[in-house]
Amino acid sequence: MLIRIKRGWELPESAATPEEVFRNRRRIIKAAAAGPIVLGASGLLAACGEDEQVASEAAPETGGAISSAQASEVDPSAGLYPFKRNLRYKIVGEPTPEEIATTYNNYYEFGSSKNIWRKAQALPIRPWTVAIDGLVEKPFEIGIDDLLAKMPLQERLYRHRCVEAWSMAVPWSGFPLKALVELAKPLASAKYVKLVSFHNPEVASGQSAPWYPWPYVEGVTIEEASHDLAFLVTGMYGKPGPKQNGAPLRIALPWKYGFKSSKGLVRFEFTDQRPVSFWEEIQPREYGFWANVNPEVSHPRWSQAMETDIATQQKVPTVLYNGYGEEVADLYTGLEGEKLFM
Ligand code: MTE
Repeated sequence: MLIRIKRGWELPESAATPEEVFRNRRRIIKAAAAGPIVLGASGLLAACGEDEQVASEAAPETGGAISSAQASEVDPSAGLYPFKRNLRYKIVGEPTPEEIATTYNNYYEFGSSKNIWRKAQALPIRPWTVAIDGLVEKPFEIGIDDLLAKMPLQERLYRHRCVEAWSMAVPWSGFPLKALVELAKPLASAKYVKLVSFHNPEVASGQSAPWYPWPYVEGVTIEEASHDLAFLVTGMYGKPGPKQNGAPLRIALPWKYGFKSSKGLVRFEFTDQRPVSFWEEIQPREYGFWANVNPEVSHPRWSQAMETDIATQQKVPTVLYNGYGEEVADLYTGLEGEKLFM
């Protein structure tokens, strides 16, 4: 008898987005836009559903279809899409509707509201050069389209869980980070990859806020970077990625809180020093280097036990490593002394 063991990341059928959600998408986008928001002056990420939260901008009347169209107008890679889906990472259930995933965003370079998608259109995404340097055989720079031409392009449907306790399921297009690591030829002394996002205050109004340590920086260990799940994203929903979701290059680390999934990447620095991330520098009591999803480890200001599915607005239990534990738990053996879950 063939017994099919469900993989940890598979969503139950009941989590599929119901038909009604599609019919009422404007209402849902508005509800979502009024949800978690960030505190202006202190600039910290906030929990889903905190009472004082208000959306600082009106909810968009049009959704991701328009924003994606804008993205493909300026994106010469549009003809490459859609990429073939890698079924190894297909979760059961439907992706979050595109209109929601592309209009409910965190991208502090363009402000601390969830409605930054219009502002993000100001970011020029061609030419876009990516630097690969630090502890590598030979540092180099490569244009995004030349990079795309070298990489094993594919689509992966991943769960996406924000530290603010909301979640989505997104069909990302891109290529495994491990392919870029191979291209980089790191030296044996490289222990971490530092991910650096763009810095352009002329177009990114949020980067004028002096209390943030721009540019946005994140980091992973070389083992995490070489794990097959770590995915560099160039598109979503079978098209080039909209700017508000991190075009032309972001990362998706689905077993970690969403703040590790940096957008607008311009540099991969291989280093022997553990990078201090953007949020960790702002508030080390609340955000650390590892940031693996764990329902049993609360954020200092809210519980992580449950999450709100941003499409259905239903609360569902959060799963250890966001459901990818079978794949990634081994990365963390011997690190018990570390704060792995913040
Ligand atoms: N990357 C940059 N450069 N700037 C940011 O503010 N926000 C992070 C992450 N990547 C952020 C970023 C956070 S907190 C989350 S939850 C995700 O992006 C949100 O990704 P999404 O808008 O595509 O859902």
